[in-house]
Amino acid sequence: MKILVTGGTGYIGSHTVVELINKGHECVIVDNLYNSSDKVLGRIKQITGVEVKFYKVDIRDKDALEEVFKENNFDAVIHFAGLKAVGESVAKPLEYYENNISGSIVLYELMIKYHVNRLVFSSSATVYGDSFTSPLKEEYGRGKTTNPYGSTKAINEMIIEDIGKANKDFSAIILRYFNPVGAHESGLIGERPNGIPNNLVPYISDVVVGKLDHLNVFGDDYDTRDGTGVRDYIHVVDLAKAHVLAIEHAAKQVGVDTINVGSGNGYSVLEVIKAYEKASNKKIPYVISQRRPGDIATCFADTHKASELLGFNTKLGIEDMCKDAYNFIKKNPNGIE
Ligand code: NAD
Ligand code: UD1
Repeated sequence: MKILVTGGTGYIGSHTVVELINKGHECVIVDNLYNSSDKVLGRIKQITGVEVKFYKVDIRDKDALEEVFKENNFDAVIHFAGLKAVGESVAKPLEYYENNISGSIVLYELMIKYHVNRLVFSSSATVYGDSFTSPLKEEYGRGKTTNPYGSTKAINEMIIEDIGKANKDFSAIILRYFNPVGAHESGLIGERPNGIPNNLVPYISDVVVGKLDHLNVFGDDYDTRDGTGVRDYIHVVDLAKAHVLAIEHAAKQVGVDTINVGSGNGYSVLEVIKAYEKASNKKIPYVISQRRPGDIATCFADTHKASELLGFNTKLGIEDMCKDAYNFIKKNPNGIE
């Protein structure tokens, strides 16, 4: 298939483009490079041998995006483009609604206009809010979101469901990611957020390479095995492969389906530290600090639907995730420059 990948130079997008190429699909990337570098394109070529067509376009720019649709006869779209920092979304809600909702609407309008009827959308476990107990099942629906970022994901899900009701030929898979971590085993693509990382594994990576001197463990008094928060970490390469299966599935069906993408296993913060220490052979200094406001004790996926509908099961475990995150940060301490 010829697939438009919005946000394709970003963290999950770049890994997905690699896996799509590995499966013989043709990718065209649209990204405004707000949170990524065009150097990623050279890295994708190093890994796959394929030069991917790239447009530096903001998806909110309807005229520019329409040119991309006119020039290419797409079979499908995988939509990653968006802003994703939870804390920032609380401080700048309008930027998040404007980018993640208005941008998506422009994209969906063009899909309908150019009869591109297959979509995979990046949603998040954040749409369950704090309303349900893990393992989280798709059939629970959406809980009460706790920040504007999460709300943009919930609203996008609703928009896509409504497009599906109005267009009989439309087919979409909404993927609810749990916690994507790790990097491609080559160490050529991966994640190094700008500034001080908010998320656990990127933060540990910065500690391991000496950019930060210790990790703060946000609370050790949760009702979990060791008192620290439990999350469902998934290797980004496994997650990327789920997208290939999802877009191929979308090509065979009509209607809108929502699928969790996690490993189904929860690891505590202390267990992740231990796994990263083993993978890097380095000590990770940490101090126990206050709970982070808004955090919940435990979040992990029920993965039956992904397995049954897509045939998707994760292959890489927590040690692979830490080994590959470490390999990437060692080679790219300042990200992909
Ligand atoms: P990322 O920031 O690395 O990638 C997103 C890409 O979109 C970036 O390259 C950015 O430059 C681009 N972009 C942003 N706004 C754009 C616009 N208006 N027009 C064109 N390009 C634009 O993030 P990621 O981690 O790869 O996440 C990809 C998607 O998955 C996002 O929608 C994110 O919300 C979602 N998601 C991520 C996680 C996670 O933990 N990483 C979890 C759940 C869902
Ligand atoms: C993050 C997002 C959430 C998204 C999810 C999956 C935030 C606030 N939330 O949540 O919207 O759906 O990823 O992508 O960004 N921790 C520490 N010290 C740190 C950082 C984290 O102890 O410096 C702990 C947290 O308390 C948590 C665990 O590590 O228990 C994982 O945290 P994080 O990587 O931020 O992911 P989520 O909290 O799941």
